[in-house]
Amino acid sequence: MSSEPHIVCNDIFKIYKVADLEVVALRGLDLAIDKGEVVAVVGASGSGKTTFLNILAGYDKPSAGGVSVSGRDLVQFSEKEAEQYRRSEIGFVWQQTSRNLFPYLTVLENIQLPMRLNNLGDKKTTELKAAELIELVGLQEKSNQMPESLSGGEQQRTAIAVGLANQPSILLADEPTGELDDQTASDILDLFGKVNKDLRTTIVIVTHDPQIAYKVRRVILIQDGKTSKEILRKDGYQRITGAASTSDQLEEYTVIDSNGRLQIPTDMLEDIGITNKAKLESSGDFLKIHRSNYKNG
Ligand SMILES: Nc1ncnc2c1ncn2[C@@H]1O[C@H](COP(=O)(O)OP(=O)(O)OP(=O)(O)O)[C@@H](O)[C@H]1O
Ligand SMILES: [Mg+2]
Repeated sequence: MSSEPHIVCNDIFKIYKVADLEVVALRGLDLAIDKGEVVAVVGASGSGKTTFLNILAGYDKPSAGGVSVSGRDLVQFSEKEAEQYRRSEIGFVWQQTSRNLFPYLTVLENIQLPMRLNNLGDKKTTELKAAELIELVGLQEKSNQMPESLSGGEQQRTAIAVGLANQPSILLADEPTGELDDQTASDILDLFGKVNKDLRTTIVIVTHDPQIAYKVRRVILIQDGKTSKEILRKDGYQRITGAASTSDQLEEYTVIDSNGRLQIPTDMLEDIGITNKAKLESSGDFLKIHRSNYKNG
């Protein structure tokens, strides 16, 4: 059981209906994430990143395909089960710093709130637990301040502590550094690494930050609603690190979906002159894709 991935997505489709139009936000997304992994998800605007996170968070269900977390099938959840799942398993950090925090509660109170809602202890117990999280995110000096008196980076640190307050097994973050300057963004990404190391929380971060490939072991590229490429760090470094390293430590993989389809970059096809048909030949540990002389008609 423990060797099962923490999160398994199998051929997920998500179709939104707007008036008479159908928008396909996810089209056959496959992905497996192990317990305790930190994964970054990158992709162009509209490629389906937020849709994917919302499904993992139990806010939304796929139109087709399967999603399971710790062996539990999210698609079959009733509304009540989904809410219980969100409360107990999921922490969420939004891009908009203002969306993460209640403006009329202090840092400490913001972090205590999810604990109280989850019955994780009385006022005193939750205060102690909140203080531990405040220390983890490095805000000891700010615990009695109101969110508006914090910098953007400090607000996101608080948001991460709030996201961890219900002791989730999965922390999801949707462009958590989108509103921050480069240095602050870098520090926040490092904090996710620290959280992962200290608490072993599985973390999925959606980001546009080009530095991310040097900061996590695994980056997943979503293109047109499905995973198309993965970039892995060759050194297998598990933690986010403060220093960017050289690109020769990165290894790029093309994803093959559950139906055996793979996406070949257009420039490679053009270089070889492959248009709409190709010949395949397997040879040892190679698969060769040849230009075909076949002509239609
Ligand atoms: N509630 C909705 N109703 C209709 N269409 C939606 C809805 N949510 C998302 N979409 C559409 O689904 C597609 C994927 O949207 P999504 O928000 O997941 O993209 P994204 O990768 O998060 O983009 P961004 O980087 O801009 O945040 C887009 O075409 C979007 O317009
Ligand atoms: Mg988005």
